[in-house]
Amino acid sequence: MAKPVTKKISARKPAAKTSAKKPAAKKKAVKKPAKRDMSYYFTVKDSVKVVQSRSGKRADKRTKFLVDTLVKHMHAFVKEARPTMDEWMYGINYLTRVGHMCNDWRQEFILLSDVLGISMLVETLNHEKMSGETESTVLGPFYIPDAPAYENGANICLDGKGEPVWVQGRVLNAKGKPIAGAKIEVWQANEDGFYDVQQKGIQPDMNLRGVFTADKDGHYSFRSAYPRHYPIPHDGPVGDMLTALDRNPNRPAHLHFMVSAPGYEKLITHIFTPDCPWLKDDAVFGVKESLIADFTTVNDAKRAEGIGLPNPFRMVEWNVVLSKP
Ligand SMILES: [Fe+2]
Repeated sequence: MAKPVTKKISARKPAAKTSAKKPAAKKKAVKKPAKRDMSYYFTVKDSVKVVQSRSGKRADKRTKFLVDTLVKHMHAFVKEARPTMDEWMYGINYLTRVGHMCNDWRQEFILLSDVLGISMLVETLNHEKMSGETESTVLGPFYIPDAPAYENGANICLDGKGEPVWVQGRVLNAKGKPIAGAKIEVWQANEDGFYDVQQKGIQPDMNLRGVFTADKDGHYSFRSAYPRHYPIPHDGPVGDMLTALDRNPNRPAHLHFMVSAPGYEKLITHIFTPDCPWLKDDAVFGVKESLIADFTTVNDAKRAEGIGLPNPFRMVEWNVVLSKP
């Protein structure tokens, strides 16, 4: 029996009517929304990247590196410490107070850097490769650049206070050769524990500071007062912080030196007395063992007479070795 014929249903669409054909409307190109560059928008997660990305092509490279690194670590600090808004504002006001405390004779920002150990860290990292040269330490806030120049052997103790001490030594290079003409700047606190700049009108101006020049054999010498310990200025915001942290403000007894000569690295250092009770608790972390000097007592009437000191007298011999850049 033959199969019934079934009509196939075509899947094709019916042909369009040609008579009513309109020109196809030009399709409008729909632009996909541009992917947002999230580096414009601040998020906690990307905070560092967002801030760092704002620098332009003309940014100074070193400045950008320093600021980017600061931002990285400051943001990490905030994320870890999570200061409250009040604490953040306290910090802003605190730094403002530090700034207002500064004047020609008071550098509260250096003090802040000192007590946080920043000054000592910067200083030490910049002088890591030592090979026999005299070690350096913090500058401190009491250096002034225009101290009077003296002949070797002069007395810089203008207020006459304290136990006299004779300081002498040589300025040498790493091979032990003298550096003639080296400039030796010295400054220290007086017997009452203050620098001249802290007591304008009380101490003579330029008390216990001076500039000496090494002779042809590198020798220098001067008369001063046996240094004593003193508190860093703690009547300002830095002192408030030390009090809040139950920290002592004292610095062990020392004499500041800044020694320079053409062709050599400038050396900023101290010498410390060996008997000071604060040697191991310096408020600014400036003590290095190699800088603890040997202050001896000399019993030599002729020599005492020659340098104008009563016999016996205290003396320290301190050679300074400068490094090449
Ligand atoms: Fe000092």
